[in-house]
Formats: sequence, structure tokens, C-alpha cells
Amino acid sequence: MDSQISANASTPLDGLDRILTIELVRVTERAAVAAARLRGRGDEKAADQAAVDGMRSELNRLPIRGTVVIGEGERDEAPMLYIGEEVGVGDGPEVDIALDPLEGTTICAKNLPNALAVVAIAEKGSLLNAPDVYMDKIAIGPGYAPDVVDLDAPPAENIARLAKAKGVSVSEITACILDRPRHAKLIEAVRATGAAIRLIGDGDVAGVIHTTDPDETGIDIYIGSGGAPEGVLAAAALRCIGGQIQGRLILDTPEKVARAAKMGIADPKKVYRAEEMARGDVLFAATGVTDGNMLAGVKFGKDSIRTHTIVLRSSTKTVREIKARHQDLDKF
Ligand code: FBP
Repeated sequence: MDSQISANASTPLDGLDRILTIELVRVTERAAVAAARLRGRGDEKAADQAAVDGMRSELNRLPIRGTVVIGEGERDEAPMLYIGEEVGVGDGPEVDIALDPLEGTTICAKNLPNALAVVAIAEKGSLLNAPDVYMDKIAIGPGYAPDVVDLDAPPAENIARLAKAKGVSVSEITACILDRPRHAKLIEAVRATGAAIRLIGDGDVAGVIHTTDPDETGIDIYIGSGGAPEGVLAAAALRCIGGQIQGRLILDTPEKVARAAKMGIADPKKVYRAEEMARGDVLFAATGVTDGNMLAGVKFGKDSIRTHTIVLRSSTKTVREIKARHQDLDKF
């Protein structure tokens, strides 16, 4: 087991998770509204910065001693919400925080579906400190036996096993895959099975979460490589909703292996399950920035702003959807 995620993993949230669950909604709402003001302007950086500013100010009101473990980058490359930054009022439980104030910067800049503001909180030492490298991922929703799919099995085998477990034919399965040249072979292999593919331009946190409700989203399985930090965030969500993810860091240069080792990752080939990326009690929230398959985007009205958020808690597996109408517009 990696020392990085075993240390202090038993520190309790002292029942504060019930309160923090609702508080977290404010954190992602604020980031989503800030980013949504810049939807469709073609400026990824400005939208991301606005989301970071919004998220940080709300995080700093939480009754926690939080440390960002999945954030905007290393301290020297990210002025705010960098890895290691301490957030919260400085009182309360010590927690790890994984965040992405704007997941899908390009989606937001182009005003396409499924851009999200995302945050997860877990007990200190419970979240995998993943370096900013790619991760090979495979994910399915809840209700299946463990390891129905296998990261190392050929795509056709995984699709066939999933179809059998779901009790449908392979042609009724839809896989979500990031539309990237590196996935050309994967796409070909999945298409050859007769399964459908939902190709997404960006946003694989949403892609993984969408597997948890195939009736609503039309997605049964997520396959392919995306960001490792996004893998940890998606794992945190699955810990709360249910579902399975397997992920392996792509450490294909000695420099990346060394960087990962510095972050406590001893085995560069390890396949991580959800409960190894996000251990113990986990809270997760995501607010839609642009309209998506599960969450509506922010709506700006004449006198109010509407937001749609999903907030999850692993200890009870409660899934709350919060549709808010904000009339105190000064706070945004
Ligand atoms: P950003 O929000 O940082 O732009 O990330 C978007 C994203 O699509 C992630 O959801 C995904 O994990 C990653 O980028 C994939 O990386 P790449 O664009 O290099 O294939």
C-alpha cells in the first residue's frame, strides 16, 4: 500500500461531514457561476481563473483544516489552489481536498455540454496524491459484481462481459471515450464489437460519473486515458454513488516515475480501485457549468441565478440533487 494514502487515514470527520456536505454545494456553485459568466467566450484561462477565485473564497469559509492534494498544479505553476495549499478557516477536522474548479475548460470556452465545477473532501491522508500525468481508466456503474471489467482485458472482452452482466446484447452497450488520436485503436476495437461509442471532446470526470446512471445518460462504460487528477475525482464520486473504476498512472518516462515516487507512489504499475484512490469517508460535489447529461448548466435570469448541483456522501451513499435559485446576486 502506498504510504501516501495510508497515513492518518483513520482521522474521523467528527460527524462534521453532515454539515460539510451542504457547505460543499456553495463551493462548487460559486465556482460554476463564475465560470459560466465566461461560457462561450473562447477564453479557457479567464474562465478557469474565475472558477478558481470563486471556489477558493468559498473553501476558505469552511470549518476545516484542509490541504489541497489534487489541485490546479504545483505551487510555482499555479498561483492559487496549488497542491499543498491550505484552505478553510484553520479550525475543525484535517482533511484532504481534491478539486477542479472548472473541469472542461475548453468545453466551457466553447459552450459545449458537461463542463463542471468539482470538489471532493476526505479524511486527511485518504486521497491518492496523483501527479499530473495521464491515467488509463475503465469505469462502470453500480450493481455489478467486482471486477466484471478489467483494465488489462481487451476492449471486446470488457464490452462482452458487461453486456452479459447487464443482461443485454453487446449492441445495446454504449462506451464513453475521449475523442483523441491516441484512442484510435480503442475506438476501432469497441466499434468492431457492435457497441456504440459516445465520443467526448473533454471532461472525463463527467464521463465516468455518467456510467452510474445509464438510463439517464445513455453511457454504460468509460474507457481510455485521461488526467490522473480527474481519475481521483471520479473515484471519489464513485465511492459515494457506487460503481467501479480501475486506473493506472501512465508513467512512461523516468522523470514521471521519479515525480510519482516523490509523491509516495512506490509501484508505478499499480492498478488503483476507487477505494484506493479515495479511502474512508468521502464527500463530493459537482455543479453544472454548461448544460449536461446529468446536470443543468448555470442559468442567468433577470433577478436570479439558477444552479444545479449533485452532492454525495460515501458514509450513507446519499445522492442529493440541489437546484438552487440565488437571489442575493451580490455574493456572486
Ligand atoms: P481541463 O479542464 O483541465 O481542460 O481538462 C479536460 C480534460 O478533458 C479532462 O477531463 C481529461 O481528463 C483530460 O482533459 C484529458 O487530457 P487531454 O486533453 O490531454 O487528452
